[in-house]
Amino acid sequence: MSNPPKKNRSKTSQAWLNEHVNDPFVHLAQKEGYRARAAYKLLEINEKYNLLRPNITIVDLGSAPGSWSQVVARKLGKSATVFALDILPMDEIDGVTFIQGDFREDAVLQQLENAVGLTAVDLVISDIAPNMSGNTVTDQAKSFYLCDLALDFARNHLKDGGDFLIKVFQGAGFNEYLQEIKASFAKTLSVKPKASRGRSNEIYLLGRGYQR
Ligand SMILES: C[S@@+](CC[C@H](N)C(=O)[O-])C[C@H]1O[C@@H](n2cnc3c(N)ncnc32)[C@H](O)[C@@H]1O
Repeated sequence: MSNPPKKNRSKTSQAWLNEHVNDPFVHLAQKEGYRARAAYKLLEINEKYNLLRPNITIVDLGSAPGSWSQVVARKLGKSATVFALDILPMDEIDGVTFIQGDFREDAVLQQLENAVGLTAVDLVISDIAPNMSGNTVTDQAKSFYLCDLALDFARNHLKDGGDFLIKVFQGAGFNEYLQEIKASFAKTLSVKPKASRGRSNEIYLLGRGYQR
């Protein structure tokens, strides 16, 4: 007997596979040695807003497999101090201190805070996103919970004038979150880079000029 849910799942996987195979950013990432097509989102945002400047300290939240950290390392080399965190393992990147753990856990946050120490952070970048279950309500709630934690971290560690870049999903909770960022930064912008798929409701919010 046929099993409709499985059939649907395999159709979805086939569509994903087709899109992936034909995606120019996937090809470019393979050619240029980036671990994920997400690299081109940060590259485009940086091109526009010049976030990656020499001698800065950066925290990369939800960093695996590591393409954003690769972008930072390639652009800034040893001049930048970079801390990256993910629940999944991440292959080493020269100049990047990686912490593996669940950002929702106090002990993991503590580990990151110990690593950062008293260094004032210039830039927090967060591409953190939970595994999507397909249930829009719970996925959205889980995502904004992580975004809230990222904003708390930024508020506690950014130096005055620092910047915060975060991926969010438009939908329930978006406007409230936007207001939170606006309250802490001199300027807030939203960016949809070309590498962000049109059908995805993800968008990047950039808070510039942290005001404690
Ligand atoms: C879109 S990927 C990030 C891609 C990354 N920016 C890159 O360029 O390679 C989102 C990441 O968030 C991580 N993540 C999700 N929930 C997390 C959690 N609770 N704690 C830490 N990382 C988490 C996932 O493991 C995943 O690697």
